[in-house]
Amino acid sequence: MGIHLKPVSVENWYECTKLKVKPEQQKVFPAPIVYWMAESKFVDDFELRAVYMEADVVGFIVYCKNPDVDGNYWIPAFMIDAKHQGKGYGRSALNKLIEIMSFMNCKRIMLGHRPDNRIAGELYESFSFKKVSEEVIDGEIVRLLQLP
Ligand SMILES: CC(C)(COP(=O)(O)OP(=O)(O)OC[C@H]1O[C@@H](n2cnc3c(N)ncnc32)[C@H](O)[C@@H]1OP(=O)(O)O)[C@@H](O)C(=O)NCCC(=O)NCCS
Repeated sequence: MGIHLKPVSVENWYECTKLKVKPEQQKVFPAPIVYWMAESKFVDDFELRAVYMEADVVGFIVYCKNPDVDGNYWIPAFMIDAKHQGKGYGRSALNKLIEIMSFMNCKRIMLGHRPDNRIAGELYESFSFKKVSEEVIDGEIVRLLQLP
């Protein structure tokens, strides 16, 4: 089955809380998974997905199911657990997520990352997420992927 995305549910939420980035990545991805779970209880728009490799949870995603006022669908969080990074899972999960979002008929996918998060920046760039500005906005480089 390879990499696939599943809704976060009573079955897998606890496993998701154990996912962690590398210690040196905490400055670029500071919020723990439980934070995103808590926020999603108050922000109706947040959709949570567990990233699975076969039967194992290896990552976590938050995306928005509705556009903002400018028609942008945001991806507020995207991570692969420290133990599972560098195996192509991030690239594959992002591919699946873009596929899901394109089925939602979304044309503009937006995300942000810290300027010193080179790995994420290069990954997003390779999917044609273009910087909306050279300026850092609220501490982040904001990128937009325009879908046909
Ligand atoms: C960004 C992130 C999701 C990438 O996940 P991943 O599973 O390691 O990514 P992949 O294995 O699919 O690799 C994607 C690309 O990054 C590169 N890469 C991954 N880890 C790397 C490392 N430690 N050093 C250099 N390059 C690296 C890979 O070479 C690959 O490039 P390629 O496909 O051109 O060869 C992961 O590093 C992560 O969770 N980081 C912390 C959270 C974060 O920064 N989230 C995004 C910002 S909100």
